[in-house]
Amino acid sequence: KTHPSKTHSDDSMNKRACKIEVPERLTVSHEALVKNGLVDRCVSVPVREATDADILLVHSEEYLEAVKKTPFMTLEDLMEFTQQYGDVYFHPNIYHCAKLAAGAALQLVDNVMTGKVRNGMALVRPPGHHSMRSAANGFCVFNNVSIAAQYAKQKHGVERVLIVDWDVHHGQGVQYCFEDDPSVLYFSWHRYEHQKFWPQLRESDYDCVGKAKGAGFNINVPWNKVGMQNTDYLSVFFHVLLPVAYEFCPDLVLVCAGFDAAIGDPEGEMCATPDIFAHLTHLLMNLADGKVCAVLEGGYNLTSLAQSVCQTFQTLLGDPTPLPVNLDGPSALVLTLKVDCKFLRISAVLYCFHFIKYLSHFSPADLPTFELSTKRIKVVEEEERTEKVEEEKNTEEIVWPDPPKRVSPCVRTAVVLPDGVDCPDGCKRFTDLHPDPLLGKKLDTSGIMQAVLGLVLPLGYQYNPDLVLLVRMPDCRISESVWQQLIGILQGLAQEHTLVLMQVKQFGQLQ
Ligand SMILES: *[C@@H]1O[C@H](CO)[C@@H](O)[C@H](O)[C@H]1NC(C)=O
Ligand SMILES: *[C@@H]1O[C@H](CO)[C@@H](O)[C@H](O)[C@H]1NC(C)=O
Ligand SMILES: [Zn+2]
Repeated sequence: KTHPSKTHSDDSMNKRACKIEVPERLTVSHEALVKNGLVDRCVSVPVREATDADILLVHSEEYLEAVKKTPFMTLEDLMEFTQQYGDVYFHPNIYHCAKLAAGAALQLVDNVMTGKVRNGMALVRPPGHHSMRSAANGFCVFNNVSIAAQYAKQKHGVERVLIVDWDVHHGQGVQYCFEDDPSVLYFSWHRYEHQKFWPQLRESDYDCVGKAKGAGFNINVPWNKVGMQNTDYLSVFFHVLLPVAYEFCPDLVLVCAGFDAAIGDPEGEMCATPDIFAHLTHLLMNLADGKVCAVLEGGYNLTSLAQSVCQTFQTLLGDPTPLPVNLDGPSALVLTLKVDCKFLRISAVLYCFHFIKYLSHFSPADLPTFELSTKRIKVVEEEERTEKVEEEKNTEEIVWPDPPKRVSPCVRTAVVLPDGVDCPDGCKRFTDLHPDPLLGKKLDTSGIMQAVLGLVLPLGYQYNPDLVLLVRMPDCRISESVWQQLIGILQGLAQEHTLVLMQVKQFGQLQ
């Protein structure tokens, strides 16, 4: 996709697409996984081609028929065909590849939903989240993630799907597909720059929240500046995505895992380091019983891409997350988002979280009560980069450290019990994994999760401890599922060095 400030003819757009959306994106990622010993630890799932029926879950018949003809077109016809769409190119092989890519996502969903694997990631290209019902767009032919979501609903009876699109571009194809559907919650953050960045759509803005019954189930977080950092990404997860996601309570999480949102990427121009994806992945793995299917989307700096892919895989494999780094400034995570904070207005239909409501009416001018954030935002505004600084930044080479080495301990959990107490039954994992009434029904419960996400977690990340100590008293009224969530979420800190003290009245109570 092209930067709007550079003027490209259609022809040069296609050339640019060919230059950055390259096969090496996959080979380099795969090599990095091999080198880090991660491939051996994964179950490899065979790919299949998506069938017509799969593709028609999302796309129109006319469009499918048109794409089917591309392998037999002359070069001239292909060029002509390509030109009716935006920023996409058709190679004679692309129909076959597109079917494989969509099929790969479906295989992953099948394996996760039937419990054969806990989670997974499909390494595919080209990406899919821009393609629409009847049109290819932005390097994308079929919208794999959308197909996968429909498929999971139809084939596996999944009731609620959360799609998290952390790619730096807006997945407008996914938004269009589900904007009136309350069973799919679509979240996307994206470089926006007040509609100057591709795909330059009004409907990528914060106030597009879905339509009809789907109102409130579409969340756009448009970044109006480049250079977003780890803090910004975590803030949005803590204060925007996760509170809503917990209330939504998905049965399956699909991730449009684009790593053009990472540092060094020529499209995104953001500054978040690859290790942040370990944390984002970990936070999502606490949802939907851990059923997370990630599908590769963008990511055009091969170094940053490969590092980010490895970070994501390693977390999916269950290794402790690395210590968070580059979380700048005091309280940066607590209340402030460096975006123009007026991005979120969600219909009250679903979201009653105070914090989100607060955000929706938020503008730096009327924030007298939150001194810290007021200051912070003023600072940010004063920092507005001049054109000159931007230009300098573009010419200088961006460097970042290698992500920290991750540990994968062979014993993850130990239990300490008094003499005479049998261990085996007592130390099995919490059985009641289904967080169904997690939020909503009991007010005190939702208050706890809200406090955890909005306060404990941001403070924890800011403080960056080496050990997390959790104490549970006998009469605490936290339900098992919330307790489970608490432990899961807090394990993102201190490289999972977590000590839990549970005081029980009688050992019979220990489950
Ligand atoms: C999505 O569909 C495209 C065709 O647009 C395909 O080539 C690609 O591999 C798929 N991507 C994903 C994320 O499955
Ligand atoms: C990726 O980033 C590195 C480090 O800044 C740089 O050397 C390399 O040229 C970048 N590659 C691309 C494709 O931007
Ligand atoms: Zn992208």
